[in-house]
Amino acid sequence: MSSLPLQHDFSLRAFNTFGIEARAHAYLPVDGADTLRAVRDDAALAALPRLVLGGGSNLLLTRDFDGLVLHMRGAGMEIVGEDEAFTYVRAAAGENWHGFVQWTLAQGLGGLENLSLIPGSVGAAPIQNIGAYGVEVKDRFHALRAFDFTSGEVITLDRAACCFGYRDSVFKHALRDRAVVLDVTFALPRQWQANANYADVAQALQERGAAQPTARDIADAVIAIRTRKLPDPARIGNAGSFFKNPIVSAQQRDALLAQHLGLVSYRQDDGSYKLAAGWLIDRCGWKGKSIGPAGVYEKQALVLVNLGGAAGADVARLAKAIQDDVLEKFGVALEPEPVFI
Ligand code: EPU
Repeated sequence: MSSLPLQHDFSLRAFNTFGIEARAHAYLPVDGADTLRAVRDDAALAALPRLVLGGGSNLLLTRDFDGLVLHMRGAGMEIVGEDEAFTYVRAAAGENWHGFVQWTLAQGLGGLENLSLIPGSVGAAPIQNIGAYGVEVKDRFHALRAFDFTSGEVITLDRAACCFGYRDSVFKHALRDRAVVLDVTFALPRQWQANANYADVAQALQERGAAQPTARDIADAVIAIRTRKLPDPARIGNAGSFFKNPIVSAQQRDALLAQHLGLVSYRQDDGSYKLAAGWLIDRCGWKGKSIGPAGVYEKQALVLVNLGGAAGADVARLAKAIQDDVLEKFGVALEPEPVFI
């Protein structure tokens, strides 16, 4: 019999930002590797399907989860070293991402300001390589420690080992269902430079009269933009962008542009193009529309919202209708960003 603080038939409603009701067969708060090791050593627990939960901001619960939810709650943030180029800061997986970013700024350390106000936890940030306003986690990432359920060891992964891509990493592929992130170390440049090229950010800084912006100015600009454009999950259930921006060939983008004036696209380093999924969905007329209690946010068509009492299936039905429309009108397949359970 384990002495772990397990709970059974546990409601996950308060732990997903969509605010969807679903129950977990078993739920366990996790503060570090020892708890995970105890799970691994317990034959009954180790046999259950696992769901690692951070801030629950990238999750769509379409059913009850007949397994073990591992809720990462470990806390702690510290400066762990520096060299000529970087200051290294480490945060435990359970820390709130925005709280951590604000803490680095309060220490006088710039580098993460463009990623202010992204919902979620520190441990989840590298899994989908969160990004906003021209910066991704991979750009400031140094290393992370994770518990490996296969070996029972704590492993350290550097940037190359994480195989970061657009909203993607090794944790969605080879290490899926295997490694659980314990803490993450970031390398923040000592010679800080503003990254304010993104049009929305440049405009917000101009409005504020910040010609030589500090990291704090950029954080404030990003917070203002996000507050204006994106719904606060504490008030309207949502999981941020519901779809990834699709990547298409230059040929396909040119053909689309010839047919659809105003198509928003961004050239990638390899010559392909990322299309603004929000624009595609908007053009299909979905902005502000709903199916039952699931809706498309009125200020950003890429964000699906729980209008009140939605089940995961309601949101999934709306998402499917949007995917079908975008495919029919533009010939482009949209891929959801959140994990579906
Ligand atoms: N647009 C529309 N109609 C809409 C929404 C967008 O025409 O309803 C157009 C905008 O006018 C703009 C373009 O689409 O020209 C892109 O919109 P926006 O700048 O709002 O960014 P996004 O591509 O929709 C991405 C990320 C966001 C991130 C922002 C800023 C993805 C899937 N989303 O959104 O990340 O905050 O850029 O960098 O890559 C998230 O992943 O959850 C997220 C919020």
